[in-house]
Amino acid sequence: MTLRKDRRDFLLKVGTGAGMAALAAQATASLRSLVPNVSYDAPTTVKIGQPTDFPDGLKFLPDERLFVFREGLTFHAISAVCTHLGCTVRAEALSQVETAMVEGAPLRLTHRFMCPCHGSRYSGDGGNQSGPAPRPLAWYHLSIAPDDGQLVVDLAREVSRDFRLTVA
Ligand code: FES
Repeated sequence: MTLRKDRRDFLLKVGTGAGMAALAAQATASLRSLVPNVSYDAPTTVKIGQPTDFPDGLKFLPDERLFVFREGLTFHAISAVCTHLGCTVRAEALSQVETAMVEGAPLRLTHRFMCPCHGSRYSGDGGNQSGPAPRPLAWYHLSIAPDDGQLVVDLAREVSRDFRLTVA
């Protein structure tokens, strides 16, 4: 009788222990699944090509959703992401090139921007002019990669609208 009871107690303890171990393993696996092994965020610093790859005027980079402007050896980059709800804005060539003083620096304006989603309009320096867009288009920092001389845009580093990169 005692032997059967001891055996039952033993099996109960083993079963409970195994159940607890399985629960602990499951809980650990669940918690671990919340922490990704890799980051799927797009890199914020992107090489976008040699300066000579860019024509004078404007080049649109669809992957980065970025307009890169070149005037001789001087570059600046304006985001194509609408500040309303994030649609990609389109560039429209101006019938006549204008020069404006933007934040104290002269800027050659060749285009303006419009958003196809809800009609926001932006001036050539990215300033929001009409529609629901609450802010100007972002300007991003450009630099030259020291290893291969490519232009590098930092999509996490906004700059003021007097930023220019002049390459040698
Ligand atoms: S997303 Fe551009 S105007 Fe709404």
